[in-house]
Amino acid sequence: MIKAEGLVKRFGRATAVDGVDLVVPTGTVLGVLGPNGAGKTTTVRMLTTLLRPDGGRASVHGHDVVREADQVRRMIGLTGQYATVDEGISGRENLYLIGRLLDLSRRGARQRTEQLLERFDLVDAAGRPVRTYSGGMRRRLDLAASLVGEPSVLFLDEPTTGLDPRSRNGLWDEVRALVAGGATVLLTTQYMEEAEALADEVVVIDGGRVVAAGPTEQLRARVGGQVLHVRPAYDRDLPAIARLLGGVLDDDHVRLPLPDDTALTRALWLLSRSGLGIAAVDTKVPSLDEVFLTLTGRTS
Ligand SMILES: Nc1ncnc2c1ncn2[C@@H]1O[C@H](COP(=O)(O)OP(=O)(O)OP(=O)(O)O)[C@@H](O)[C@H]1O
Ligand SMILES: [Mg+2]
Repeated sequence: MIKAEGLVKRFGRATAVDGVDLVVPTGTVLGVLGPNGAGKTTTVRMLTTLLRPDGGRASVHGHDVVREADQVRRMIGLTGQYATVDEGISGRENLYLIGRLLDLSRRGARQRTEQLLERFDLVDAAGRPVRTYSGGMRRRLDLAASLVGEPSVLFLDEPTTGLDPRSRNGLWDEVRALVAGGATVLLTTQYMEEAEALADEVVVIDGGRVVAAGPTEQLRARVGGQVLHVRPAYDRDLPAIARLLGGVLDDDHVRLPLPDDTALTRALWLLSRSGLGIAAVDTKVPSLDEVFLTLTGRTS
């Protein structure tokens, strides 16, 4: 497992990480959420031995990240960092070479390469030299490269920022597959949705401190669950729909919090029974901003 106790990092007079505690049990995913500048990357850099903590301690599978940095480095995968992608050769050749360097058999390296090319939507570009790749393709290749060795402990720092939805789903699938195989994952993200899709537990940090922690559902419950948006075909029906659902009128739609699993079914049943024309129905998760507002009393 991954464990941090009272981690501190100062840059000059500023304290970027101010006593962070976290635990990621083996075989689970921890999502670290936080606004820009919260201290997420700094925390990850200390846990991955790239930065020396000024206080507290941390370990990966029992190995101290400062005193036993070598052992820790051997166990972990870190997106972007350890992937040394060669610009002059193709994406496929890069992944294959990394596989061979990691002691995979020829066949194993070939299979893993094709699997990752598929997952990260790089099949069409696989034969081209990496220097001809777009920014997004390059990023996907970096991610794929860091995953060739199927690390048992994986740190992902905002892995899907800037990825298109298809590649994002590919990364999610890959993370799920690694976890099903027993891997332990810590990922930072700005997206509540991503934390909910992947993480067992979430730690929210703000200003270098943990402001909330717990299972994702519990955090979601604290911020009020999903919200239903209903837009009638005719604006004149807005008040009737608001009354019917007990929701709130907001511009061209009615908003209704969905505290539990049955609330949506109930609302749809009421709507269909009313016979009123509906243009659109949508469920939304609260944005990270709303989560922060609830948890910290201010927006990011
Ligand atoms: N090398 C450094 N020197 C000085 N200050 C730094 C350094 N690295 C980070 N900081 C500061 O530490 C604080 C935390 O930064 P960090 O990169 O950990 O935030 P983050 O949560 O990863 O943010 P983002 O969402 O923008 O990636 C910020 O105020 C940042 O300016
Ligand atoms: Mg960061």
